[in-house]
Amino acid sequence: DKGNRRHFMEKEIHEQPEMISHTLAHYVDFVGGVSKPLDLPFDFAKIDRLAISACGTAYLAGLIGKYWFERYARLPVDIDVASEFRYREMPLSNKDAAFFISQSGETADTLASLRYCRKAGMKIGAIVNVRESTMARESDVVLPTLAGPEIGVASTKAFTCQLSVLATLAVRAGAARGTISLEQEKTLVRELSEAPRFANQVLKLEDQIEKLARELSRYKHVLYLGRDTNFPLAMEGALKLKEISYIHAEGYAAGELKHGPIALIDENMPVIVIAPHDRIFEKTVSNMQEVAARGGKIILITDQRGAAHATVETMETIVLPDVPEIISPIIYALPIQMLAYFTAVFMGTDVDQPRNLAKSVTVE
Ligand code: M6R
Repeated sequence: DKGNRRHFMEKEIHEQPEMISHTLAHYVDFVGGVSKPLDLPFDFAKIDRLAISACGTAYLAGLIGKYWFERYARLPVDIDVASEFRYREMPLSNKDAAFFISQSGETADTLASLRYCRKAGMKIGAIVNVRESTMARESDVVLPTLAGPEIGVASTKAFTCQLSVLATLAVRAGAARGTISLEQEKTLVRELSEAPRFANQVLKLEDQIEKLARELSRYKHVLYLGRDTNFPLAMEGALKLKEISYIHAEGYAAGELKHGPIALIDENMPVIVIAPHDRIFEKTVSNMQEVAARGGKIILITDQRGAAHATVETMETIVLPDVPEIISPIIYALPIQMLAYFTAVFMGTDVDQPRNLAKSVTVE
């Protein structure tokens, strides 16, 4: 049931504050400000590496997870798309753990990677949305996303709930490994608890984003740029736009601009820059200047401080609230989903059932 929404995707975008809140509450105790007990088949303090494997949007969630595990827990993460992971014969250790991320819990390549790691004697965690799925059954621990059923082929709420689970796990791992103090853990948990409220605020930018989408629907190519966790988010923005609007889009690490994609810049290819005012904001401003100098049109997604410090003319600036670093990827996912959604609506495509795509890819 779509309720009063035009598409499931629209409904699912709007469900995010609630679903993120449910998911977070499963893993952290907001009152005590610490992680809830979780029966893990391994000890974060005793493993040397974590392997993560997934496909599509779930893979991009895993990539953001890598930044978190390495930052907060100093735990090295190997991550691949599952179709590569299962065949690249990487060295695996039975002392380590592996996480598989999947909305459906049935994706063929991800499941094959899971079985491959199980055979290698690793401990298996499945971050899945469907609790009765094959991956859930074949894992040592199920780490559920509580997104509720996701019907739209384009993944939205499953993605932000996957991010929510990964963020709480990274904090938990940091606490177990002693790389964050109890005080830092409490701060991070409190910051995570603010995600639903900020997500709600961002949903109110709908009118601005819809107007921008009307513009965007006139173009044939779009480039997304971001640094740090906004790099995977740039790829997610591009994936979302191409899959439902059929506009060609690519996501790049902003620092890679000079290594190739800058050759494409002209007034016909808008550049969407995802850049909150963080440690490396100034670096991204230089990239925007390079784009502007070549006649490129910039759509900047930033926060209030970023908008005040971006010394470059933009086609549009979407200003999000200033949010804590740890929840930034969760909050910045929303405007890119909304932009893809409205662009597809203007293009008149079948938003919930885009051509050639299946919700769950159960064959290789
Ligand atoms: O069910 P899964 O999470 O394993 O699915 C993985 C991908 O097929 C999926 O995320 C796909 O990329 C989405 N259509 C993206 O919106």
